[in-house]
Formats: sequence, C-alpha cells, structure tokens
Amino acid sequence: MMLAACLAQGSAQAAPVEISTRNSALLLEATEGKPLAFLHYGSPLSAADVKSLTDGARSATDSYPAYGNYPENEPAMSVVMPDGNMTLDLVVAGPAARSAESDGSTIYRIPMKDRVYPYSVTACYRVYPDDDLIESWVEAVNNGKGNVKIMRYDSAYLPITGRDVWMTSLYGGWANEAREATEQLLPGVKEITNTDGTRNGHYSRGEVMLSLDGRPQERSGEVIGVAVEYPGNYKLRVVTDAGRRNRLYAGVNERNSWKTLAKGEKFTTPPVAFVYSDKGMGEVSRRFHKWGRERRMAHGTTPNPVLLNSWEGVYFDINEPGMAQMMKDIASMGGELFVMDDGWFGGKYQRNTDNAALGDWTVDTRKLPHGINGLLDEADRQGVKFGIWIEPEMTNSASELFEKHPDWTVQAVRRDTVKGRGGTQLVLDMGNPKVQDFVFNMVDTLLTRYPRIAYIKWDANAPIMQHGSQYLPADRQSELYLSYHEGLLKTLKRIRAKYPDVMIQNCASGGGRVNWGLMPYFDEFWTSDNTDALQRIAMQYGTSYFFPAMAMGSHISAVPNHTTYRSVPLKFRVDVAMSGRLGMEIQPKDMSEADKEFCRKAIASYKEIRDVVQLGDLYRLQSPFDGKGAASIMYVAPAKDKAVYYWWRTDNNYGTVPQRPALDGLDPDATYRVTELNAIDNQPIPLEGKSFSGKYLMSNGLEFPVSHSLDWGKRVDYASRVFLLEKQ
Ligand code: DGJ
Repeated sequence: MMLAACLAQGSAQAAPVEISTRNSALLLEATEGKPLAFLHYGSPLSAADVKSLTDGARSATDSYPAYGNYPENEPAMSVVMPDGNMTLDLVVAGPAARSAESDGSTIYRIPMKDRVYPYSVTACYRVYPDDDLIESWVEAVNNGKGNVKIMRYDSAYLPITGRDVWMTSLYGGWANEAREATEQLLPGVKEITNTDGTRNGHYSRGEVMLSLDGRPQERSGEVIGVAVEYPGNYKLRVVTDAGRRNRLYAGVNERNSWKTLAKGEKFTTPPVAFVYSDKGMGEVSRRFHKWGRERRMAHGTTPNPVLLNSWEGVYFDINEPGMAQMMKDIASMGGELFVMDDGWFGGKYQRNTDNAALGDWTVDTRKLPHGINGLLDEADRQGVKFGIWIEPEMTNSASELFEKHPDWTVQAVRRDTVKGRGGTQLVLDMGNPKVQDFVFNMVDTLLTRYPRIAYIKWDANAPIMQHGSQYLPADRQSELYLSYHEGLLKTLKRIRAKYPDVMIQNCASGGGRVNWGLMPYFDEFWTSDNTDALQRIAMQYGTSYFFPAMAMGSHISAVPNHTTYRSVPLKFRVDVAMSGRLGMEIQPKDMSEADKEFCRKAIASYKEIRDVVQLGDLYRLQSPFDGKGAASIMYVAPAKDKAVYYWWRTDNNYGTVPQRPALDGLDPDATYRVTELNAIDNQPIPLEGKSFSGKYLMSNGLEFPVSHSLDWGKRVDYASRVFLLEKQ
C-alpha cells in the first residue's frame, strides 16, 4: 500500500487519518471536538485492520498529550494562559488537510484548538512513502490578546506498543563521539538531553533506535529509529509505566527555554523523523541514509571528493610556501581538494593560536602575501580544488569585531563575561538580525570575491557559556537558545539560496554538530577531532546508525596520533579512512616515499569504489561494541553488482580467533569475484581472484587470514582487510 488517507470531510464523525509508507503505517483518529487519538504506528495496515482499530478494537490514547487535566501524566505540551491558567485542553478543530509537496512527500495537518482559550495547535506529519519515513512537528498559534507562555513543546509523541522494548542510543564526548549504549526500558523515565547551546552532537546524540521485541538485532526484529532534526538543545524521553507501556516524547529541550507567544504569533517546533522496519536496525539505518542523501543533505547524490585538510599537518602555521607544498603533495597522491584550516586571517590581532581574531575575516597578508587568489592560482596549477576554514558564529575578546560590537555576543547583563577556547572565545548572538547579516555578508564576500573557492569548512568551537542575549528584551531572555538556532538556520538558508553549489563541511570541534537539522545546508561533517583509526572504527560505526558514509569525513593522519598517541600502521589507518569520505589530515612532507606511494594507490582504489561506499547500502556485520575482537561492515551498490567488505581486527590477543562475519545484502544467485584492496601480505592471499555465490558468502563469509604475512621485522600488531566483490 503506497499512500492512503481517509480524511475527515468536516463532520463530527470518527475520522481515521491513515499515514502510510511502503512498509509502515501511522493511524490516528481525528474526530472534531475530541482529543486527537493515536491508534497505531508500526507495520502496514489492511483495510480490515483500520476498520477494527477505529471501531474501538484497541483503546485509543491521546496523540499529543497536554498538561492540565490529569496532571500526573507526562505532557508533550504545557502552557500558561494569559490569565495564569496552567491547563491546556486540546481537541480536534476540523478536518485533516493534506498537501502534496514537490519532492514527492505529503504533509498532513490536523488542526486542534483549546476548548476554551483562543490557542491552537496543528499536529503536522510529513510522509516520505518510498523512504518509510514520517516526520512529526507541531505549530502553535496564539489567537488571543494576552501572551501565552509555552513551557513545553515536544515535536513528537509516540506510544510504543512493543512487548520488550530496548533502546540503543549514542553517547560520548569530544574526541569520543557516538559510542553505543543499549538497554532494556524498565519502568521509570529514560531521558537523553543536550544543553550545550550551540552544538549538540558530542555527548548524547538526538537519535535513538527502539527495538520492540528484545535485544536489538541488525538483521531482524521490529525497530523504530527516531531522529530529532534540530541543531540546538534537544530532549528525548521515554516514560515506561508499571505495565511496561512506553511513551516517547521528542523535540527541543525546554529547559530554561519557555517561549512567549504574543497575539497572532506562531511557533513551529522542529521536525522529528521516524522510521519503522521489521528488518532490524540495519534496515532502519539504510532508510535514514537514503532519505538523508536524497532529501536532507546538500548534493547528497554526488560523491564527495578526496581531500587534504591542513589542520593536523601544520595547525596554525599557515604560510604560502607551506600551503603550496601541501597542495602539490595531495595532488601528487591523487587527491582532489585541499582545505586550508584555521590561522589564515586577522589584522590588528593575528591568529597564531586559538585566542584571537575570530570575526576579523580578512586574509593575513603577513602569512599569505598573495592573498587567497595566490592560493587559488596555486590550486589551479596543481589541479586541485581549494577550500577554506571559517568559524562565523564566534569571536574572541581579542578581535576588532568585538571591539566594535561587544553587544553582539551572548552575554548576561551585569555579569562578568564567561569565555571559552583560548580564554577569549565568545559566541555571537545568532538571534540578532545584525549578527545574521554579518555572518551572511562574511560568507557572501568570501564567495563573491573568490568564486573559485569550492569548499568551506564551517566550524563552531564554543558552547553557550552564559545565559544572556543582549538583543532579546528582558521578558524574552528564555528564548536565547531558540532564537540562536532560528537565526543560524535562517542564515544558512540564505547562504544556500545564493550559493547552492559550494561544498560546505559541518564541523564543531569534530562531531559536535552531527544532526539532521543542519544537514540540508551541508555536504558532510567532520566526524571527530580524534583521527586515531582504532577509535574511529567505533565512532564511525555508531555514527552510521543514522548517517551515511558520504557524510563522514574520515582522514588518514600521522602517528603517533595527536589525540591518543597510539601508533597504528598506515595500512590499518587507510583501511579505516576508506570506509567513510576518505581524506588526509597529515603533513605529507613528513611521510616516507613508500607511505606516499601506498596512499597514492589507496586513493586510486578508493576512486574505484567511491560510488559504492558513498552511495551504496550499508550492512553492519560485526560491531566493535560487542568485544569480539573484530569489527566489520560492507557497502553494496544498489544494483548489487559491486560491494566492498571491510574487516578490522580490534584487539590482538595471541591464540584468539576474531570473528569473520558472514556477508549481507548481496544477490544470492549472483557470483562475485574477490579482489583484495590495499594488500600488504608477501603473497596474495588464497582468496584472491576466487569467485563465490552471494548465497555462499552470506552464509559462510570469507575465510581470510586474520594476520598479515610479512617479513620478520615488518610484522605488525594490527590486521585489516578490504575486499572488492564484483559480480561476474
Ligand atoms: C576544531 C576542528 O574540529 C578542527 O578540525 C580544526 O578545524 C580546529 N577547530 C581549528 O581551530
């Protein structure tokens, strides 16, 4: 069933609203004058199912619970009416409206209103039928005279009717993003929140998987994936009662963020996306990846280039010969883009370290005498594209910008300023339209003055460190976080409207902004400031639950690693980096010729498999979080004619045999020829060039050696394999 909606025709009759995708269905009942009722979310429904469910076969629950009547229940929305009344009593106000969008999605709007007060809330659902994805949000309008204060405003509420529900969430921190936590939901409240203010991806992430029938499985079982599409503070709560009924609430974290709605004002919450599948977590991820690439990322169907980023190679030591040498080196290894990171700008204040000059976006000609054009000319000569780092939402107290506009920063009145990175970093108040113009104009000037700039790395390295807007009036101070992100999204939209083609990387001290709220404006993100290959396996695996490989900047860096000080052999570093959007984060002039040659070959191989990695379907085969001594994933081209299989040994204890998992996603009837990429063994391994049926590979896997056969003295404590499988 593709799309079926039984929409009310203005009567007070029970009116089912069925919102269906190919493999899932949401069923609501919108009867005028009654609360909007929830009947089902999960497997597709037959006509008989819909009829019986709406005929009372299953007791309906409120589909957007409001606070006030029965206040012991957890609400999705709570308000304070102008007269101080703290109850909200929402009922359906009219028939559901349906509109077809140009991207093939359909939006359903179900109007609700308070029974007494002139306050209305529209429950909105956008359905992407082919992607099995439904977004949910609400729009609140104050139609009365006095101000309404909205204290809580979830975008989505979902009763989860599983029998034994488990939650998989991601937690971590700076340089340790996206670790997996899996737990059974027992009676009580499980809350995942963010309070950073500007970035929300370092610690707990705003995406969870809910496995409805016991421990989560990759290849089977009913799973609901949930993603809050918002770059600011978010909150996910699951309330489980004594009867093990689970209720999910998701949206903006309302902590210190109540919203005042004046007469006629409207407030729209960000969307929360849901995917249901009965084929396990793997299928939920593949749905999110496809939807993301095709609908929720900039240029998500065009593979991203192989790049060298200057940061770990030279840090702030930016100068013309150094940049030219890096461009030459990456070009010689087959790279396609060079990105000049932090340190290229400044005037009165120089950017030699992290404590000055943010906001003074003029090229520092003491470092770059021929300016950006000099670098662009060099990039042209080397045949690579050129990208540049900016951190537009920030300033330093040591900057000309701050001297001119101290009132543009996030700062509470009558308090000492709280500063961040370098002891001087301050956050600009993106809620202030003047700041929005400043940020837009800065990017606009850069891209109009230097139209050859192909790529921007947009960084954000400070949280909101003090609650205070110098722009918002006293009675709207609680809207600081909301207005910050409204301003940020508005500015990004404006930039994208004028510069649809430029590539932009979303970076925030690494993976601080990995969320679907921002990705419509970005081509990719910097997965983590930690480039240690061993730790990256887990970070990239966790990130893959919701985000596709093409979005994950994954770079080969130096040893010892600058964060973990671990020395991982080049082959292993390359094999990990090649499982995402491959790049380099290294000083090439410090590499040996042999290492450069290895990278040159690996980049050439990556170009051969890039479409499969970046645009193919991901199958996670062995989790690094399971402690089985290995991790493994594979990507399969949509036509199933080509696949790439990655295997990394994650610990090395003599005598143990790490897992070599069976493959997945192949055509069982096809025959695939195996070629090892980035091979280092003295002789080709016995599997080289052999062919197997998809059926064999998916039940037996590949029995490759779990260590490398190398001359004595060259042996290493790491092992990894990358295989290309081509249909014969
Ligand atoms: C943090 C980023 O994550 C790094 O990659 C680098 O761009 C630095 N900021 C520059 O200050």
